[in-house]
Amino acid sequence: MGNSEFRVTLENRAKEINGILEKYLPVEEGRQKTVIEAMNYSVRAGGKRLRPILMWEAFLMCGGREEERESVEPFLAAIEMIHTYSLVHDDLPAMDNDEYRRGRKTTWSVYGEAMGILAGDGLLNYAFETAAKSFLRCPSQEHMGRAAAAFVTLSRKAGIYGMIGGQTADIEAEGQSAPLSEEQLLFIHEHKTAALIQAAMTVGAILAGAGQEQIDALEKCGYNVGIAFQIQDDILDVTGDSAELGKPVGSDAQNGKQTYVTWKGLEQAREDVTALSDEAVRILDGFTGEHSFLKELILSLIHRTK
Ligand code: IPE
Ligand code: IPE
Ligand code: MG
Ligand code: MG
Ligand code: MG
Repeated sequence: MGNSEFRVTLENRAKEINGILEKYLPVEEGRQKTVIEAMNYSVRAGGKRLRPILMWEAFLMCGGREEERESVEPFLAAIEMIHTYSLVHDDLPAMDNDEYRRGRKTTWSVYGEAMGILAGDGLLNYAFETAAKSFLRCPSQEHMGRAAAAFVTLSRKAGIYGMIGGQTADIEAEGQSAPLSEEQLLFIHEHKTAALIQAAMTVGAILAGAGQEQIDALEKCGYNVGIAFQIQDDILDVTGDSAELGKPVGSDAQNGKQTYVTWKGLEQAREDVTALSDEAVRILDGFTGEHSFLKELILSLIHRTK
């Protein structure tokens, strides 16, 4: 797949995801209008839509069919809602205290802190309401079983054994004066970031009816992609361009955070991003299903600037 073909496909995939999100976003009306506006403001601010894109590609690679799209779409929308809620809460004054995200003022800085908390809560809950709609669209009993298993994986990876667990360790580490151990730093990166990327890939596989071996392989692949993704995020927090990133640089230093970059230095961090991404691609190459776009996508993240 050539570079321009890859770029066009990526753009189209993101547009498709935006279209799906629009179908599911709640209508801004009633006494709860303000919180719904704040929820939609956060989702519509954009973002790369990486997680739903990964989910759909994993689904296709594992033999999922275009005709089954109806029952996959709720999960595509749900994972982006969960990811967006994690950002809304991550930016709160009590957490990273950031005022700029996805090229806009952060949700709390526009709607106030209380509404920022509620918008995050709203998105999280609405994500599961949305994912559950998959059950109503399953074409067979077998698909119903897959959707149930996917629902469990999504919930677990978003929760205390996944993203929330990682954010907890991240916040606790802020106050730590001693250097973080390797185990501690990798725990944080694995849980706060890799977990949702693993969820994206394995949910795609589960919905396609993949076997356990394939699901396990994608769990490993998602681990590598996720750790690389967070290392690159830490790098960009030092070397990135705020206008391009759509979020502030220097946020980690300001919060006294120890990151992969403070731990290993920029050069080693960059090398590790490449090595982890190459490893992820090696795992994918064990799959017989079409995955040239997915492979390019993972490799493109090594050089991402936003
Ligand atoms: C940012 O995620 C938070 C991390 C887990 C590093 P993304 O870089 O995917 O953010 P958006 O969705 O594109 O805004
Ligand atoms: C956050 O990591 C990961 C989440 C679960 C939101 P960061 O705090 O480094 O993410 P950014 O840099 O604010 O996007
Ligand atoms: Mg954070
Ligand atoms: Mg942050
Ligand atoms: Mg960051």
